[in-house]
Amino acid sequence: MPLVPMRQILDEAAKKGYGVPHFNVNNMEQAQAIMRGAEEVKSPVIMAASKGALKYSDMLFLRNIMNACIEKYPKLPIALHLDHGTSVDICQTAIHLGFSSVMMDGSLQEDGKTPRDFDSNVKITREVVDIAHPLGITVEGELGCLGGIEDGIGSGREKLTDPDNVKEFVEKTKVDALAVAIGTSHGAYKFKIKPDPDKNLLAMDIIRRIHELCPDLHMVMHGSSSVPQELIAQINKYGGAIPETYGVPLWAIQEGIKAGVRKVNVDTDLRLAVTATIRKYMKEHPEQFDPRNYLEPSREAMKQIIMERYIKFGSAGHAFDYKPMTLEDMKKFYENK
Ligand code: G3H
Ligand code: 13P
Ligand code: ZN
Repeated sequence: MPLVPMRQILDEAAKKGYGVPHFNVNNMEQAQAIMRGAEEVKSPVIMAASKGALKYSDMLFLRNIMNACIEKYPKLPIALHLDHGTSVDICQTAIHLGFSSVMMDGSLQEDGKTPRDFDSNVKITREVVDIAHPLGITVEGELGCLGGIEDGIGSGREKLTDPDNVKEFVEKTKVDALAVAIGTSHGAYKFKIKPDPDKNLLAMDIIRRIHELCPDLHMVMHGSSSVPQELIAQINKYGGAIPETYGVPLWAIQEGIKAGVRKVNVDTDLRLAVTATIRKYMKEHPEQFDPRNYLEPSREAMKQIIMERYIKFGSAGHAFDYKPMTLEDMKKFYENK
């Protein structure tokens, strides 16, 4: 049963210079799409649940769906990860549920909105590391606040990650991975103008500088959905009303991976794929009422996006490169550090 610590998946990605997509999961169809896609292209898997997903699914339902993935796909390395934990308590809950990785998002206070200062971020993140590492569990932290640089949505450059703070943060907290703010934001509304490859969409200079200062650190890009224009068009064609909007293009993500990003978080693109499929189906089959008839194609639409991400981020083909580590193995690794 290769539930693996996320640290191993990222260490292996770093050795070969590829990125691994992190997909958020809320229900069975998403989990199946992630696993079916991974099996087809032979990719390691990072499956993540947010606080909202745990609430939506009453926790146990989602945990058991994730367990079913581990049981059904015994050969694929799978990390179960808590996304954006906002307190020590929620991280502990995820650890008790059996996750192999947690994110303590100490960039924000417990309301998930108000920025937290550096020292308080260090303190709360270290508290989670001190609980997680003795159990072999990976910890992701976050420094800086997400948000576009010049799109009027984000907070501008001043809230981006300051590379000069990173080394101190990593040394003091001992995190395994770090979410960096480089101008991405969550959700479908990232950029109002079509991204131009000749202009600086994201602050790649920050990624490059952090990689120079901390070459062993695994950087994480949140808010990395690409917002495929064909899905927006399909949603709008069949009754949706999504205004013009653009995501992070795959070329920008690939640039980040080249510069040292190892985990790339994607959620919104899967939501768009489901909505686009269901809207089309409903419009074209008004006489139908069996949810399986539209959930099945929506699962397939998610799988297509998922496979493309595995391939484009470079993790496809790497599932069987290494022997999966257990949490016990990882405990020893931390003990000997
Ligand atoms: O980072 C946020 C993820 O997209 C999760 O979103 O809190 O609506 O589940 P959620
Ligand atoms: P998107 O909203 O761009 O999919 O980002 C997801 C994310 O960062 C989850 O942590
Ligand atoms: Zn995120």
